[in-house]
Amino acid sequence: MRRAIYPGSFDPVTNGHLDIIERGCKLFDEIIIAILVNPDKQPFFSIDERREMLGAVLKTIERGTCVIQVDHFQGLLVHYALAQKADAIVRGIRAISDYEYELQMALMNRRLEPSIETVFMMPAETYSYVSSRLVKEVFQLGGELKGLVPPLVEARMRDKLASD
Ligand code: PNS
Repeated sequence: MRRAIYPGSFDPVTNGHLDIIERGCKLFDEIIIAILVNPDKQPFFSIDERREMLGAVLKTIERGTCVIQVDHFQGLLVHYALAQKADAIVRGIRAISDYEYELQMALMNRRLEPSIETVFMMPAETYSYVSSRLVKEVFQLGGELKGLVPPLVEARMRDKLASD
């Protein structure tokens, strides 16, 4: 029984995240998608909104027998991972530019908790330039999001803009 944590901000979840989760399902029996509660950042979507969207869009992915859960956490990731009895942390790496920061985090996490491995996974090339940050920027400037995020996420972004 192999359990992985897939941590991140998921503000919002993108097709790149879903691609990594599908790939992770081939390696792990269980994946816990863990949304970081970050009091220092002003998010686009609340934790509850992100959890709800993730739950909905995860229904559409290819998961085989993999069990997927959505949760949120505060504090050190390795403390959360230990509490969840996880074996690994999954992170997606899109380009070399991601690698330096991801390597630092992976090595720091290893130092803090040597029993938990970090597994880097590459998304499909189609998503190699997709990030939540760029998705929000493109959206806020009126650009097209088709193919970058699930349709439900795009609809929720439009709803939010309309209600502000
Ligand atoms: O999607 P993101 O914002 O790139 O995810 C970053 C995340 C959540 C993986 C990272 O910020 C994190 O693990 N934060 C928890 C605090 C922590 O453990 N910091 C030490 C990591 S070296």
